[in-house]
Formats: sequence, structure tokens, C-alpha cells
Amino acid sequence: LDDVRDDLTDVLLTEEQIHDKIAELARRIEADYAGRKPLLVGVLKGAVMVMADLARELRMHIDMDWMAVSSYGAGTKSSGVVRILKDLDTDLSGRDVLIVEDIIDSGLTLSWLLGNLQSRGAASVKICALLRKPDAAKVEVDVEYIGFDIPNDFVVGYGLDYAESYRNLRGVAVLAPHVYE
Ligand code: PRP
Ligand code: MN
Ligand code: MG
Repeated sequence: LDDVRDDLTDVLLTEEQIHDKIAELARRIEADYAGRKPLLVGVLKGAVMVMADLARELRMHIDMDWMAVSSYGAGTKSSGVVRILKDLDTDLSGRDVLIVEDIIDSGLTLSWLLGNLQSRGAASVKICALLRKPDAAKVEVDVEYIGFDIPNDFVVGYGLDYAESYRNLRGVAVLAPHVYE
């Protein structure tokens, strides 16, 4: 664990802060989707932790499905090229879809995904993202449920990776420059 800690500078969000925020978002989602059964679409792999915690926090019927799209590869910069690596198994016609994401960085992944899912005949498509970096936005995305706006640093943990590492950290931390320079 010590060698992991050497790779990090500040802890941005603790496990408890994340938990409290997800509970807050869950209460809003329960109210907004009362009497309906939304389909939560998790965006692999980053969204696994948010999805797991949000889904268990929701006291209502939901369905869960997953998509894998990637725009980053192994680097730290968004390439803007979105690829579907795994598509949904679920028919979206008439469904209330809630996309679950860990982070909105440039916004390119979500703006593409929003258009893609809307074109499949869903009744509604909304977005829930734990983190957003306003200073990194290249396109504006309309997000219904947002956890935290954070500075434009390279952050890892709670699903977020650098070259596939650090996803298993319980909190969100800033990656030390020596790791990627
Ligand atoms: C990361 C993150 C978001 C996306 C945000 O995923 O999990 O999905 O990038 O970036 P954007 O707003 O600039 O498009 P990544 O492509 O790294 O795949 P991963 O979830 O498997 O790590
Ligand atoms: Mn992702
Ligand atoms: Mg990634």
C-alpha cells in the first residue's frame, strides 16, 4: 500500500464524502423516477464503483445494464474517438434510461453516448456522473445528477484509472506527476 500512496498527492474525496453524496443523489433519483423502473446504464469500466454503490442505495426497482466505450486508451488525454467495445443487451424502446458515469472530463464520451442512446427510442435519457471537471469541458453536456465539480487535475480511484491502475482505491486522489511524466 505504501507504493500506492507514493503515487498520490492530495486525497480529493474520501470514501465517506462519496458515500454521502451518492445517498443524496439516490434520494433525488427515487423521487424523480417514482412509480417507474429506470434502466441504469453503467459505462465500463470507470463507472463500476458508482454503479455498485448507487444501485444499492436506491430503494426502488431498477434494471442494470452495461456499455463499454473508450476514448482514452492508455494515455492521460482524451482522444475524442469513441469506440463501442461492448453494447447493451437491453432494448431501449420506451425505457427511462439513466447513464451512470464516474467522470465528465472533456464531455466527448457522454455527448456521444447521449445521442447514441436517444436514437434507440428511449422515453428519456438522463445522466448521473459522480465527478465533473468544468475546466476541461470541450462540449457542454446536460447532466441531471452531478456529484462534485473538481479541478482539472489527473485524478484516480473509485473506478478511475491511470493505465488501468488505481481503480480499486476507496477514495479519489490526485495522481503525482512523477507517475506519468
Ligand atoms: C474515462 C471516464 C469517462 C471518460 C470521460 O473513461 O471513465 O468514461 O473517460 O472523459 P471525457 O469526458 O473526456 O470523454 P475511459 O475512456 O478512460 O475508459 P475507462 O472507464 O475504462 O477507464
Ligand atoms: Mn469511463
Ligand atoms: Mg480510463
